[in-house]
Amino acid sequence: MHFFNVPTAVLQLFVLLILASPTTACTKQEKCYLLRFLAGLSRDGGLATSWRDSSTDCCEWLGITCNGDGTVTEVSLASRGLEGRISRSLADLTSLLHVNLSYNSFSGGLPPELMSSRSIIVLDVSFCQLNGPLPELPSLVTTDWPLQVLNISSNQFSSEFPSATWKMMKNLIALNASNNSFTGQIPSSLCLGSPSLALLDLCYNQLSGDIPTALGDCSKLKVLKVGHNNLSGTLPVEIFCATSLEYLSFPNNALQGELDGAHIVKLSNLLTLDLGGNSFSGNFPESIDQLRRLEELHLGSNKMSGELPSTLSNCTHLKTIDLKINNFSGDLGNINFSSLQSLKYLDLIRNNLSGIVPESIYSCSNLTALRLSDNHFHGEISLRIGNLKHLSFLSLSQNSFTNITKALHAIKSCRNISTLLIGRNFMNEAMPQDETIDGFQNLQCLAMEWCSLTGRIPIWLSKLRNLKILVLLSNRLTGPMPRWINSLNHLFRLDISNNSLTGKIPMTLMEMPMLKSDKPAIYLDPSLLDLPIYVDSANGKLQYRMGSAWPKVLNLGNNKFTGVIPQEISHLKALLYLNLSFNNFYGEIPQSIGNLAILQRLDLSNNHLSGEIPAALQILHFLSEFNISNNDLEGPIPTTGQLSTFQASSFNGNPKLCGPMLINHCDSVEAPPISIISAKQCSNKVIFVIAFGLFFGVGVLYDQLVLFRYFG
Ligand SMILES: *[C@@H]1O[C@H](CO)[C@@H](O)[C@H](O)[C@H]1NC(C)=O
Ligand SMILES: *[C@@H]1O[C@H](CO)[C@@H](O)[C@H](O)[C@H]1NC(C)=O
Ligand SMILES: *[C@@H]1O[C@H](CO)[C@@H](O)[C@H](O)[C@H]1NC(C)=O
Ligand SMILES: *[C@@H]1O[C@H](CO)[C@@H](O)[C@H](O)[C@H]1NC(C)=O
Ligand SMILES: *[C@@H]1O[C@H](CO)[C@@H](O)[C@H](O)[C@H]1NC(C)=O
Ligand SMILES: *[C@@H]1O[C@H](CO)[C@@H](O)[C@H](O)[C@H]1NC(C)=O
Ligand SMILES: *[C@@H]1O[C@H](CO)[C@@H](O)[C@H](O)[C@H]1NC(C)=O
Ligand SMILES: *[C@@H]1O[C@H](CO)[C@@H](O)[C@H](O)[C@H]1NC(C)=O
Ligand SMILES: *[C@@H]1O[C@H](CO)[C@@H](O)[C@H](O)[C@H]1NC(C)=O
Ligand SMILES: *[C@@H]1O[C@H](CO)[C@@H](O)[C@H](O)[C@H]1NC(C)=O
Ligand SMILES: *[C@@H]1O[C@H](CO)[C@@H](O)[C@H](O)[C@H]1NC(C)=O
Ligand SMILES: *[C@@H]1O[C@H](CO)[C@@H](O)[C@H](O)[C@H]1NC(C)=O
Repeated sequence: MHFFNVPTAVLQLFVLLILASPTTACTKQEKCYLLRFLAGLSRDGGLATSWRDSSTDCCEWLGITCNGDGTVTEVSLASRGLEGRISRSLADLTSLLHVNLSYNSFSGGLPPELMSSRSIIVLDVSFCQLNGPLPELPSLVTTDWPLQVLNISSNQFSSEFPSATWKMMKNLIALNASNNSFTGQIPSSLCLGSPSLALLDLCYNQLSGDIPTALGDCSKLKVLKVGHNNLSGTLPVEIFCATSLEYLSFPNNALQGELDGAHIVKLSNLLTLDLGGNSFSGNFPESIDQLRRLEELHLGSNKMSGELPSTLSNCTHLKTIDLKINNFSGDLGNINFSSLQSLKYLDLIRNNLSGIVPESIYSCSNLTALRLSDNHFHGEISLRIGNLKHLSFLSLSQNSFTNITKALHAIKSCRNISTLLIGRNFMNEAMPQDETIDGFQNLQCLAMEWCSLTGRIPIWLSKLRNLKILVLLSNRLTGPMPRWINSLNHLFRLDISNNSLTGKIPMTLMEMPMLKSDKPAIYLDPSLLDLPIYVDSANGKLQYRMGSAWPKVLNLGNNKFTGVIPQEISHLKALLYLNLSFNNFYGEIPQSIGNLAILQRLDLSNNHLSGEIPAALQILHFLSEFNISNNDLEGPIPTTGQLSTFQASSFNGNPKLCGPMLINHCDSVEAPPISIISAKQCSNKVIFVIAFGLFFGVGVLYDQLVLFRYFG
């Protein structure tokens, strides 16, 4: 059997080979160039094995494609786990057209020979961890380079972005150099050299200087993205000559000036206009309606002012209108939202808009996210808001809306709503207790803070079974903490601080499923953050987006709770922040608090707690903020471990407490009586708000933000 089998197998293989490559195999020379490329790699992701085991014809190798003559035309090795250097030998393959090495982890730079190759038309080395400068190529050659597509994005290239190189690239159609660290200017002669250029992406670099007027020569340019750089100056009028533009995007630069309506109309092919995060001023261009195809408009975070023109109604394809953080004023009454049937995102946060919310907005049935917060809107929320079946994010915070009862009854009909932020409205109204408030099946995040609402914590909240975040901070709620609280199975952040709640805290609070479990369900549903949430911080703007982890928080501070802190507090093992300050808790600090092993911030200040500081607190290794001041604690502060790292301010106002950081040292047998002004003598609210701000060390929040105020 063996005798006959072997030759048959060989024969079969031979036939297969002939069928697979009916023409000439690759030349020894080409094979040699490929092996040189291989030799440059320090990790080849199994390529060597594959190439060695395969036939000796390199046209058969993994990732290699040849033409009929057996010359290599394509090297396609994206995501192969390759490391090491990209050898210039690839440029010696004289018929090579396509090179795709994206998503590998090379080191070193890109061999200039690849860019100036006489054959390559597509070169993709994006996401390759390449670094160093991209050298200016000598323009000695007389023929033009054939390169059409160059993707060097998402690497670590640095230094000046080349300018002369592009003069030789008469055929260039797409250039993506985004997400590197290039400096210098946008090359001014780009389209003189490359008249076919249709896509230019230079986002996320450190380019500076003015936008070159010569970009107006780019008659084929459709996509121009240079956001997140350091460009200055104005939008040159010449740029409006590039009338093929569909996508014009310069967000997050330092551009200024006014948007000239007379010029902008020339870009009648625009689908996306993104100039957010600059310093543009002046009025909204009235001629915007000439941009009939416009789908996305981002002018947020500028210094624009004046009223929004009625012509906006005529941009009937708009899906996104982002005008946040400007000085637009007047009311929205002259915009007919009924004609904006495609609208999905409308963000007007932080302007100077006033009046009532126009009824026509409720006919934008595709609306998914609506943010009107931090303006001067007033009036009631129309029952018609229930038409918005797709609405999942609604923020009305910080306006002067009235009638919370009507608002909740109206909004509950938005079946898909998952984030509802209505704080700083409805001043001094009564918290609706009406049990017919239901619906809200998908509500995950509810904030009704700083409304001075009166009444109890209402029972309808207990039906919001998907609630993850509940913020009732700074109202005038009275009565007890409800026993049903542990039926909110997903709640991981509860802030009812700064109210007038009374009684003992119910034991059910110690059984909150999410606070007991270390299940990492602290990730919010991405739909919660349809719009980015901004938080001001000392070092600039932080932007939170979907997917971030949110700490588990229990804040009962500044109420009138009484009783002892239950031993069972130790069940809430998942807590990161616990605040019981400014209440009337008495008795000892339970030893079991030491079981809250990941606790980072603990505030028990301004109560009537007595006894010694439990030794168990020493083992809270992650504790970074700690306050037990203004109680009646006694004895020595531990001199080793975590507690010894805090300053006097954490302990002050406990006359019987002694320790190295206090005036009251433990060795002094008779500590002199220290007169300490009890914080209780001042207005609790003021003290609390100040203390709270300092304790949680976070700046002012733009929006909803009370929610996320703890994020430092
Ligand atoms: C290169 O390969 C990646 C991954 O398969 C792909 O996403 C990319 O579109 C390719 N590049 C080009 C220019 O075709
Ligand atoms: C690189 O850019 C080219 C041209 O825009 C594109 O076709 C290709 O898909 C991009 N590569 C990756 C990995 O995204
Ligand atoms: C450029 O490449 C990046 C990835 O590095 C990609 O996200 C971006 O969409 C590309 N730009 C264009 C205009 O295709
Ligand atoms: C930028 O590049 C890095 C790798 O260098 C990558 O991890 C990141 O996702 C890229 N960012 C974008 C916006 O493409
Ligand atoms: C941005 O440019 C300005 C001058 O226009 C310069 O002062 C500043 O340092 C630059 N910032 C960065 C991060 O390059
Ligand atoms: C709005 O205008 C006021 C007064 O003119 C100015 O103080 C404020 O900075 C402006 N806000 C923005 C976001 O431009
Ligand atoms: C919208 O366009 C129509 C037709 O071109 C015109 O009659 C109407 O006045 C425009 N409306 C606004 C608000 O500009
Ligand atoms: C806000 O709008 C009102 C008119 O609605 C105007 O009087 C006031 O000057 C505006 N404030 C700013 C800062 O633009
Ligand atoms: C608003 O637009 C809708 C639909 O385009 C139209 O039926 C209605 O008459 C318009 N209303 C006003 C006041 O112009
Ligand atoms: C509403 O959204 C759906 C799904 O995104 C889309 O198919 C539909 O065309 C949109 N309606 C309008 C009027 O744009
Ligand atoms: C409701 O929201 C979910 C995700 O949050 C989404 O998958 C679904 O399509 C939405 N339904 C409607 C009617 O918009
Ligand atoms: C709130 O709206 C409801 C329903 O429209 C109405 O019955 C009630 O009187 C309003 N309450 C106030 C205080 O205006």
